[in-house]
Parts: sequence; structure tokens; C-alpha cells
Amino acid sequence: MRQKIVAGNWKMNKLFHEAEDLVGAIANAIDDNEPDCEVIVCTPSLYLEVAGDYSEESQIRVGAQNVSEHDSGAYTGEISAPMLSSMAIDYCIVGHSERRKYFGESDALLFQKAERLLENDISPIFCIGELLEEREANNHFNVVEEQLNNSVFKFNKDEFSNIILAYEPVWAIGTGKTATPEQAQEMHAFIRGLIAKKYDKETAENTSILYGGSCNAENAKELFSQKDVDGGLIGGASLKAKDFTKIIYSF
Ligand code: 13P
Repeated sequence: MRQKIVAGNWKMNKLFHEAEDLVGAIANAIDDNEPDCEVIVCTPSLYLEVAGDYSEESQIRVGAQNVSEHDSGAYTGEISAPMLSSMAIDYCIVGHSERRKYFGESDALLFQKAERLLENDISPIFCIGELLEEREANNHFNVVEEQLNNSVFKFNKDEFSNIILAYEPVWAIGTGKTATPEQAQEMHAFIRGLIAKKYDKETAENTSILYGGSCNAENAKELFSQKDVDGGLIGGASLKAKDFTKIIYSF
């Protein structure tokens, strides 16, 4: 079901006591004043348990940042979807451009990861987005369409209905160079159109599509006011409780 969402992607940041403080501050802020959106923190896996403790008592929801494509076995250092499920984790980021770039994750592998998550009742927050040179070559729509065709569009309609999409233009991630609200809206509307073509209009209307890439406390309101932007996947600005809280109340 389409819902407004603000999700923080902490990436590889924060020491343990800092993580506890941050999740505590966010939980307190939203429990004092019920937000209009689902609030998710995607912490490093080491901190999922402490974030999970807060999710039992507050409205905060917890997501992982990565998952193995395997269910169990001799895969040193990996974390499986059944493990996440056993810790009551509701969401997991898949396909982030940093994993595509630094860990060579392909669309085919990302499909398998999303498949493991869905089998374990965890919603993938599936990231797509073009590189700067692809946008400059006016190829961004093709790139995003291909990413979708090679991954999440392989799911049937029921499976796809549990997926959240995040459009993250790679040139906007961590650069301070945000997509304009018009650029974000244009791509989100394009994506929703592709979903309608692949499945149907209802599925398209029910899919949450988040924007990510230098979204912050100053620009969130305008981005979130766009018709097809259902919220944000926030990196740097999710590391400060005050900024993240302001983004949560930007609808
Ligand atoms: P920034 O908000 O730091 O640009 O990061 C966005 C992102 O990668 C979220 O997944």
C-alpha cells in the first residue's frame, strides 16, 4: 500500500553509543508528535538489535542495509534474510549505488537478494538511479527502465506490491547536488508509468517511490510536495536527530 516514508540510511557511520543516542532521540521526537509518515532507520547491522528495542516501544521501524542472497551456510561475514526476520526487521535496502559500485552487485544478484527478503516478509527498499554521465547523455530514463526490467520487474504483481522503490540519482548522493523537485517528479512519474505498464494502474498507484540524494532539512518539503514523490531515503542528514526529525515533518 502506498505510504509516505522517511528512511534514514546511516551507511557505515556512528559508534555504538552514538547509534543508541541517535535512535533514542528520533524515537522520542516522533513519539511526542505523531508524524504523517512511516519512519525507518537503516542502521549498520551491528546496531539492528538496539534499534529493534526502540521499535518495540516506539513508532520507529528498523531496516538493514544489506542481505545475503543465500539463506544460510558457509558465507563468512554475511547476514541472511531469515536472520533479519528472526530479529523482527521489517525493511532492507537493496541495490544501493554504493553496493553496485564498490561491491560489484549486479541487477541479477539484487533480484536474488530481494527474493530472499520477500520470502521472509521483509520489504526491500530497492534503489535505482543513473550516473552523471548517463544523465548528461540524456540516457537516464533508459538506464532506470533497464534496472527495473532486470530486477524487480521480474516479480509477479503480489510480490512486487511489497517493494518500496527509491530513486537515487548517483550524481546527487553525498554531493550536495540535489535533483530539482521537477527532475525528481519527472523521473518518479516515469517510474510509476512503467509500473502501470508492467502490472496495472492500481499497483502503480500503490507503490511508494522515495527520492534519495542530498535530501536535507531545507529541501525536503519541496521535494515531498511533488505528486509522485512519497518521501525520502536520507543519507548524511539522517545522522543528526534534529535534521532527520525536520525531514520527517516535511510533509
Ligand atoms: P545523501 O543523503 O548523503 O546524499 O545520501 C543519500 C543516500 O545514498 C541514501 O541512501
